[in-house]
Amino acid sequence: MLVICEFFSTFAANSQVMKDNQQEIFPIVDEQGTVIGKATRGKCHGGSRLLHPVVHLHVFNPAGDVFLQKRPEWKDIQPGKWDTAVGGHLDYGETPENALRREVREELGITDFTPTFIGKYVFESQCERELVYIHRTTYESEIQPSEDELDGGRFWTIQEIREAMGQGVLTPNFESEFKRFFLDEAKIEKYRLLTAQIRALTEGETDNIAVMANICAAIHETMGFFWTGFYRVQGGELVLGPFQGPVACMHIGFGRGVCGAAWEQRKTIVVPDVVKFPGHIACSSLSRSEIVVPVFSKHGDVVAVLDIDSKELATFDDIDREYLERIVYTMPGMR
Ligand code: SME
Repeated sequence: MLVICEFFSTFAANSQVMKDNQQEIFPIVDEQGTVIGKATRGKCHGGSRLLHPVVHLHVFNPAGDVFLQKRPEWKDIQPGKWDTAVGGHLDYGETPENALRREVREELGITDFTPTFIGKYVFESQCERELVYIHRTTYESEIQPSEDELDGGRFWTIQEIREAMGQGVLTPNFESEFKRFFLDEAKIEKYRLLTAQIRALTEGETDNIAVMANICAAIHETMGFFWTGFYRVQGGELVLGPFQGPVACMHIGFGRGVCGAAWEQRKTIVVPDVVKFPGHIACSSLSRSEIVVPVFSKHGDVVAVLDIDSKELATFDDIDREYLERIVYTMPGMR
């Protein structure tokens, strides 16, 4: 990969079309951000893996949509992909704060914004290593991206971003950063509150149906899912139990659908797209992704499953799995 990075770097440097200046000088830093040297852009992006600092700004509108910029085709890294609203390298001798103000002015023409620092981390690709300083802001006025530096930009809903992930439309850097610092953080915070609420609600209760009823109501209200409910193992099949959402199928056989499969396999099943799950039972045509978590008795038998449906694709991931398993594994009366 070293060879390929160097090839592209040389190619861009010799190209007659618009290009990044490969001779530009970047600071080289340690992981705390202390400057320990300097090197050219070409060297930093040519597979040397010298750690160099960059600033990112994630721009939200008051509705919570996210502004993404389209990278021009002449960029030496990730041409044509949709990326964080603003991203740029620190010049040698520049502070992250000043670099952010300069880049935001140059790329989006914005000077009247208040950035919040979110954190910093090391981003590694095959060609480079960056120390990324992440910021966010909420911006209400219209944005006019620079025609020289960008190939345009627009606001994306969170759902549009979720669906574009892994499709080669967004830069890998944006995908991993946005997921980690924005999507995951928000979801984890909601689950933390939910877990505490459920513990307080159900502590000491011995009636399983009452516990299930309040657990699914709490999950449904807090997380805003499409359907949240329990199926109980009764007489060798799953029978509809307490739930929130539209009416649903009442009986599901062992091994049938996602619920029956989670019972049979005794493990949580995450289905990003229900039409791709063989045997999925569509209680509602609006349901597009699903997670099913088995509930075990203290003897280790599956006594119920917690089933959650979403109207959107790929809603559930390891965070949902972890917190939902914790919720059902600590249900009073089960263990
Ligand atoms: N989709 C489930 C059936 C239950 S409903 O989603 C409420 C399944 O395939 O098991």
